[in-house]
Amino acid sequence: MILKMVEEGKIAGRAMLFAGPPSTGKTAIAMGMAQSLGSDVPFTMIAASEVFSLSMSKTEALTQAFRRSIGVRIKEETEIIEGQVVEIQVDRSLTGATKTGKLTIKTTDMETIYDLGMKMIEALTKEKVLAGDVISIDKTSGKVTKLGRSFAQSRDYDAMGADTKFVQTPEGEIQKRKEVVHTVTLHEIDVINSRTQGFLALFAGDTGEIKPELRAQIDAKVNEWREEGKASIVPGVLFIDEVHMLDIECFSFLNRALEGELAPLVVMASNRGMARIRGTGYKSPHGLPADLLDRVLIVSTKPYEDAEVREIIGIRCQEEDVTLTPDAVSVLTSMALQTTLRYALNLIACAKVIAKKRKAEAVAVEDLRRAYGYFMDEKRSVEWVKSQAGRLMFEEGEGEGGDERMDTR
Ligand SMILES: Nc1ncnc2c1ncn2[C@@H]1O[C@H](COP(=O)(O)OP(=O)(O)O)[C@@H](O)[C@H]1O
Ligand SMILES: [Mg+2]
Repeated sequence: MILKMVEEGKIAGRAMLFAGPPSTGKTAIAMGMAQSLGSDVPFTMIAASEVFSLSMSKTEALTQAFRRSIGVRIKEETEIIEGQVVEIQVDRSLTGATKTGKLTIKTTDMETIYDLGMKMIEALTKEKVLAGDVISIDKTSGKVTKLGRSFAQSRDYDAMGADTKFVQTPEGEIQKRKEVVHTVTLHEIDVINSRTQGFLALFAGDTGEIKPELRAQIDAKVNEWREEGKASIVPGVLFIDEVHMLDIECFSFLNRALEGELAPLVVMASNRGMARIRGTGYKSPHGLPADLLDRVLIVSTKPYEDAEVREIIGIRCQEEDVTLTPDAVSVLTSMALQTTLRYALNLIACAKVIAKKRKAEAVAVEDLRRAYGYFMDEKRSVEWVKSQAGRLMFEEGEGEGGDERMDTR
């Protein structure tokens, strides 16, 4: 439902919270959401602890995360030349230093010859354009795109790689006006326009702080484009995992930012029950202050059931390229139900190594048993610590602690 609302652009500026015990698929759902959103809907995923970085303030880190999650769809009209290449003829000058040439290109309706300069020849060579290819040339930038081989050439199929794409010879005019749409995020526009950083910072990922005046200018410009119909806003999704790690200042920032004109859907996840709000002495459900809680739609996640666990184990084995015997699947499922799903999934890789050692193809129950013996899960580890009374360091003080995780048991 939420995904549908995001796609319709209806949920910008709202917030959701996945609340539930560890290992109940909160992060997994978020990843799934990211995959199912359209390719031009931005999805940003951060862990709350990332906000506490030394190189920028907490609010700057959050602002950047917000702006990474808002897309701007920009429409541009360009003139292109599109058709099937009939012939490329290149003439070298006597010294070989300069090249000139002619490109014959056709659609089903017409055929034209263009003169080629050095740059165009290079671009065509780089794309390995041959007669019979259907290409598109952007007239302003000179960029050549190979759309595929013409169907008329498909008898040459045998000599081609299996990944050759066949397309129809275009119809109509060779020169066309075409609308191209790019989607960039507000953050990308910020970075490209911040004089100190330049666009290279986008690749380095090290963007530093960006001045608020610059952001205001960019927002104004984007609004102008929207009014002129050149651009539209695509609200995306910002996922903040382990949100209880944020402190009170961040929460109040979130509250304000959600009210902003350009806000994405904010999805948060927390595995805390009643917990102290970081930066205060107060306790609150999920470690979130009441005013923020009031704003969010809360989805509670519950531990997976038998059949679901079995299915997830199946998916994971496929991903990791491991075969389990049917018995082993049942044993691992019951291990997952007794310990945690995450622990059980970790055992898959360990059991595979053990199975390999005895040169078996599939992981059997005995391999799982051994892996289970080698590696402790949380519960057994706690019991072991208790049994070691007096022999470990730092054990008397329970710490100030007091935060309670939502318990599965
Ligand atoms: N629906 C699912 N499909 C596949 N794997 C899943 C699914 N739900 C959970 N998992 C796996 O179970 C483990 C725990 O899930 P996770 O989402 O990390 O829990 P949480 O974030 O709630 O603590 C992860 O290894 C995850 O990949
Ligand atoms: Mg998680």
